[in-house]
Amino acid sequence: MATEDQTQDNGSGVATAGESTLSITDNRTGRSYEVEITDDTIRAMDLRQIKVNEDDFGMMAYDPAFTNTASSRSAITYIDGEAGILEHRGYSIEQLCERSTYLEVAYLLIFGELPTQPQLERWVYDITHHTFVHEDIKHLLETFRYDAHPMGMLLSGVGALSTFYPAAKQIDDPEERYMAAIRLIAKVPTLAAFAYRHNMGLPYVYPDNDLTYPENFLSMMFKKTETKFKPDPRLAKALDVLFILHADHEQNCSTAAVRAVGSSQVDPYSSVAAGVAALYGPLHGGANEAVLRMLRRIETTDNIPDFLEGVKNREEKLMGFGHRVYKNYDPRARIIKEHLEGVLEATEHNPLVEIATELEKRALDDEYFTERKLYPNVDFYSGIIYEAMAIPTDMFTVIFAIPRTSGWVSQWMEMNDDSEQKIARPRQIYTGYRDRGYVDIDEREGDEKITGPPARRPKRPRRGA
Ligand code: CMC
Repeated sequence: MATEDQTQDNGSGVATAGESTLSITDNRTGRSYEVEITDDTIRAMDLRQIKVNEDDFGMMAYDPAFTNTASSRSAITYIDGEAGILEHRGYSIEQLCERSTYLEVAYLLIFGELPTQPQLERWVYDITHHTFVHEDIKHLLETFRYDAHPMGMLLSGVGALSTFYPAAKQIDDPEERYMAAIRLIAKVPTLAAFAYRHNMGLPYVYPDNDLTYPENFLSMMFKKTETKFKPDPRLAKALDVLFILHADHEQNCSTAAVRAVGSSQVDPYSSVAAGVAALYGPLHGGANEAVLRMLRRIETTDNIPDFLEGVKNREEKLMGFGHRVYKNYDPRARIIKEHLEGVLEATEHNPLVEIATELEKRALDDEYFTERKLYPNVDFYSGIIYEAMAIPTDMFTVIFAIPRTSGWVSQWMEMNDDSEQKIARPRQIYTGYRDRGYVDIDEREGDEKITGPPARRPKRPRRGA
């Protein structure tokens, strides 16, 4: 708790506070305040006592995009970007990828501990037996246009699930929470695969309970006329590792969206739909798509030197390189790379993969990139792996959403159990007019700066319905 410390108001401006407090002097009034520091953080509400006079609302912190504001206390994911460390519940991402399956990691994120054998068996059984979606959800997806973006279809599908499981509104009921976690993790791959089949004009493939989680997803994506689809184990393994690598990444844009929307106490399906919407944006889930578009533009390995010159002259960006948090090798990129070879062996030759490999080699040999600590990030390799698996670019973000669902669910649960959380409600600095007199419509003067959309030409009648 912060206190106004008048005893320090000596005008010298020199703080005399103890070790775990911050002394603030308001030069408008000359008053000093002592604010507690916990975990290298001060509470924004402790600033509110700083006022010019009694009528003053009190000081706020201005932080658009929350670049320096902790919105929660979380025990799920730890990242040290400088050192290139990523841990879930204290276990390094390297150990988890080496020794766990994605479903084990999902359990770890949600319940805080790795499961025992019986716990894991029940968890896998429950998820495997909830992969079907209601036929009406299938009908809903069938109503989309043939070229609908699969991420838009997934967003609608996840939102629609809330109407099929209204009991999930009881967000404090442990049984309902468990069922929502199971259903979300189980059904998101089904929705994702149905969206893909819809785009391809192929019949939807129902889940196969004999297969593992990643195998079942590949079956729902790629099964054709065979009675049983058995994916190449190297592809299933690589996909499972990719799922682990994308399961959670602490308070990113989509997780913050899930928490903010969930703070209104809406059901978990609607909260996760908010996460899907945030992930849809190109600045979040879309970077691996951008890598593939860049590789297509480069066209052949002969064009790489010119392309890199363009990057250095700031005409281009080397997509899939660099990271806001990791200023060292992205630990997830290193892990994916180990699985790339297996995927390339199991798939048909793809010239884009050759371009990517050569591009990476040349960039890592170039001082421009090494000096700026620009290393490949997770998206550089995930895009290449999906491309090698013949997954269309539009599906990349959808596949990212599959494992991130367990991260969103775990963060949603943690937020609901945190007694300090309330409905999310940021403050604003109001910059608009005040106290204007109403002007009748025939007395208003038009503002040149405000223009409507350009006048449309009359539409040509569309063929068909
Ligand atoms: N290509 C060329 N130059 C780059 C790149 C790049 N990809 N990334 C950074 N730089 C340069 C940048 O121009 C700057 O140079 P200088 O100091 O001479 O002005 C320097 O490196 C530092 O970059 P920055 O912009 O300050 O770094 P940032 O932390 O603001 O940006 C980033 C991080 C990820 C937005 C950026 O590296 C980038 O745009 N990368 C390409 C897009 C991409 O791959 N995004 C996926 C990130 S992983 C997603 C996830 O974790 O889920």
